[in-house]
Amino acid sequence: MNHDLSQRIREKVDIVDIVGERIPLTARGKNFFGVCPFHEDQNPSLCVSRDKQIYTCFSCHATGNVFTFLMNYEHKDFKEVLHYLGEKVGIDVSGVKISHKNTKYDKLYDAYKFSVKYFNNNLLSSGGREARNYLKTRGFDSDVVKEFNIGLSLPTRDDLTKLLISKGYSIDSLNSIGLSSLDHDIYVDRVMFPLDDVNGNIVGFSGRIYKDVDQNKYLNTKETEIFKKGQMLYHFHKAMDECRLSKSVIVMEGFMDVIRAWTVGVKNTVALMGTAMTSEHINLLKRLSKNIILCLDGDNPGQNAMLKNGQMLVDSGLDVKIIKLPKEDDPDTFILNNGKERFEGIISSAINFSDYKINHMREGVDFRSDAEKAKYINDVIIETAKLDDDIRIEIVLKKLAKEFDIGYNTLEMRLKDLKESKPVVQRVIVPEKTHTRINKYQKAVYAIFYFMLNNDWVISLVDQEKLLFPTSEERLLSSEIIYYYNKYGSISVADFYTYAQENEEIISLLNSILAGEEMSVVTKDELFQYFKVVREYSMKQEIKRLTELMKKEVDPLEQAKIVERIRKLRIGDN
Ligand code: UTP
Ligand code: MN
Repeated sequence: MNHDLSQRIREKVDIVDIVGERIPLTARGKNFFGVCPFHEDQNPSLCVSRDKQIYTCFSCHATGNVFTFLMNYEHKDFKEVLHYLGEKVGIDVSGVKISHKNTKYDKLYDAYKFSVKYFNNNLLSSGGREARNYLKTRGFDSDVVKEFNIGLSLPTRDDLTKLLISKGYSIDSLNSIGLSSLDHDIYVDRVMFPLDDVNGNIVGFSGRIYKDVDQNKYLNTKETEIFKKGQMLYHFHKAMDECRLSKSVIVMEGFMDVIRAWTVGVKNTVALMGTAMTSEHINLLKRLSKNIILCLDGDNPGQNAMLKNGQMLVDSGLDVKIIKLPKEDDPDTFILNNGKERFEGIISSAINFSDYKINHMREGVDFRSDAEKAKYINDVIIETAKLDDDIRIEIVLKKLAKEFDIGYNTLEMRLKDLKESKPVVQRVIVPEKTHTRINKYQKAVYAIFYFMLNNDWVISLVDQEKLLFPTSEERLLSSEIIYYYNKYGSISVADFYTYAQENEEIISLLNSILAGEEMSVVTKDELFQYFKVVREYSMKQEIKRLTELMKKEVDPLEQAKIVERIRKLRIGDN
């Protein structure tokens, strides 16, 4: 790998931009903070440094540079990332050949790719007339068919299975990925909607009836090795860019809703494919935006799901707004009946989740009953106490005071009581103490490396002093840093990462070093203190090793030599 090329590319991109395009970051001091995408979290534990061009998670200790970030976040390999960034900054990367890596799923993805084409042909052929009419009556034209890869499974029951078998697939594998059941097709006479995974691979289908038949409206692919309904959102992959542009994501129930919204130009949408929301869904949504707009169906199940899902999202640290549709509508029918402008109107007037929740509390309360009324007022205050916006708190309390003719002070006092007993939500970053207690020696080693990576003169000093680290990984890292410095004349952590990436031992050591606390400047005296600690430790280790060796030695002459070496070590003459 051409190190110069990767370095040139790295210098032209800013890690803060690249990470910031994917997860929301907030500036604090010199650094930027966001919710770490590499573990489940709601606190901003991920720190991105513009100076150093690296990121570090205080919680899960994920560390790296812009390349490793993209590799891990987008599941790409190094060359793919190099291509992506090179193109972004206008550096020619055509010399770097991307080798197509064969994953064990490639053949399964191919079966799906083939099926999509096959279904699509069916729809466009003469046998597809009725299905085409169905789509036309729903207002979905050929653009929609193309964009969403819509197709048709024939009534014949085994065409697809036969075709795939003739292409070399075993019936077992077709059964296991949910395209066939025994020796026939799963999908029979349905309009077919392909379902993508988070990387845009087609991994399943949802087939809809399009004639008046007594069958389930939708038939979905069963859970397979590559299709997990709870871990995917319809339209996720395609919505990524749109969500970044609009800085929000709209969550709907049905994929038909997403398709309809697309026809009126609203494309930052995903569908849950039902009302259930899992924690994996929440993690996926985090990747799209911090601002979530829930737009589920207007019926009761939809409303209840918005309350439940909205709370889960808020608890995960996301900002949630709600679009409340008329009872009889889903986004699809709302757009059909009211048009693009009114739909855009209700998106921009989406209400805060807490307001929605408070409004919703009114429903079903019998205000003639004092007990119910009091309970309602209490519930509203409990909810209000969770807000951190004083103005909104005052508005809610004033409304309550007026409506129920209760003294404002009474309400405010109740709220204060609640607030004082409320556990403080932890939103600040507390760098977790490193799991394993590091001893004095380890601390010295880490400090030396840390300063080597941040100050060129420390590298020279370590080199001059011929400091020998005790473990082989440490010795390797040290010699690689020295080598790198001599070759390139200076060192930056971010570039060194790229240089060392193939070497797993070094990378994991590097991660441990950088995941520690930030250190300020160091003096030469302090460094010599660290050197001393390391040398003493190295010496002890060496004496231990020699002592073991001596025990095993049978030749008295050799034994004497070892004893002499130990003696010399002890007096520091080596
Ligand atoms: P809906 O019943 O709201 O579907 O189910 P829809 O979007 O309004 O569809 P149309 O307009 O009748 O064509 C929402 C989602 O729930 C899942 C589907 O993924 C659907 O997109 N669902 C629904 C099923 O999986 N099976 C069903 O039988 C019904
Ligand atoms: Mn519908």
